[in-house]
Amino acid sequence: MNTPSISILVVDDTPENRHLFAHILRETGCEVVEAASGEEALRVSEAREYAMILMDVHMPGMDGFEAARRIRAFPCCAITPIVFVSAVYTSDSDRYKGYGEGAVDYLLSPVVPEILRAKARAFIEIFQRRKEAEEFALRMEQANRQLRAANEELESFSYAAAHDLRAPLRAIGGFAEILLEDYLPALDAPGRDHLRRIGGATGRMNELIDSLLELGKVTRSTMRQEPVDLSALAGDIAREIQGDSPRPVEWVIAPGQAIDGDPGLLRILLANLLGNAWKYTARRDAARIEFGREMKDGQPAFFVRDNGIGFDSAQAAGKLFKPFQRLHSAEEAPGSGIGLATVRRIVTKHGGRIWAESEKGDGATFWFTLGHE
Ligand SMILES: Nc1ncnc2c1ncn2[C@@H]1O[C@H](COP(=O)(O)OP(=O)(O)O)[C@@H](O)[C@H]1O
Ligand SMILES: [Mg+2]
Repeated sequence: MNTPSISILVVDDTPENRHLFAHILRETGCEVVEAASGEEALRVSEAREYAMILMDVHMPGMDGFEAARRIRAFPCCAITPIVFVSAVYTSDSDRYKGYGEGAVDYLLSPVVPEILRAKARAFIEIFQRRKEAEEFALRMEQANRQLRAANEELESFSYAAAHDLRAPLRAIGGFAEILLEDYLPALDAPGRDHLRRIGGATGRMNELIDSLLELGKVTRSTMRQEPVDLSALAGDIAREIQGDSPRPVEWVIAPGQAIDGDPGLLRILLANLLGNAWKYTARRDAARIEFGREMKDGQPAFFVRDNGIGFDSAQAAGKLFKPFQRLHSAEEAPGSGIGLATVRRIVTKHGGRIWAESEKGDGATFWFTLGHE
């Protein structure tokens, strides 16, 4: 094994022992550092990592236990395995003391070279694995940081872009309105129709920009954690959605559903799901929209269920929760396709997951968890 960058420390006040141990251990291919006293051992381990430390117990001045204890206090040596060597028989309590100071083994001198080498090789192997793991973790951390930075940049770019689109859009909408109000007689029927379409498209684009800005806001916002009464929230939202509409929708909201989470984000979540349920039941005579919590695949999960037009699950796979993805045309139901992307980010931020079940023409159920239940 050729491992020149890996070192072992040998601490012994008796030169013959020290040289013998060093000689035996050099055959592992490691560099061996020698220290003739506890004090010297401290000096050479303060800023250096060893795969293993072989430590004589009985030394004049600072003994092996004391040296081990102080070496272990150095951050670089906090978990370095220490093997004690004692030339004379030591009592059990002495041995326990050694283990208490970080000993992983206790050898009696004279030491059998093969055994010492075998032990050293095991520790070298562990050391190498640990180094590899540390390096890997470092690389992962760097990659994560880069990814986060890139994401943030992308986020702020789309936020700025969405934000800056508003001013020119306002101008287009405003002038189209002036034309409609003041110049209508000057236009023929197709001209008026074009103008109305400009107005309609401007309105839809405005909604799209609002949704995009909300999506960005959800991503950037820091989470609050406090008790939230989801049932009360769902009830409020249902009343807001129903408003003055004459549509006879049966709202079924399970009482007493409370969790810890971010009240603002959870409102956006429920508003989107209940809003979709409302929108996609528009053509039902007896529409029914439910919110509650049930056991699902052996785990409790919240759900929003409706008996509306539903969607084709195969067609929805991999699309449903992505921005701008819509399964229905603008003629079937208007929308931006950003709502469910926003919902998924909120669920993920709470440490949960979301999925949906539906059959075309037969309603839809959106299941979600919030946190690790
Ligand atoms: N309750 C539902 N019933 C049927 N289809 C739904 C339902 N909720 C969402 N969808 C489908 O998922 C798509 C994405 O939903 P969403 O992101 O909220 O966008 P939007 O509602 O603006 O179209 C919708 O366009 C629709 O096709
Ligand atoms: Mg929606």
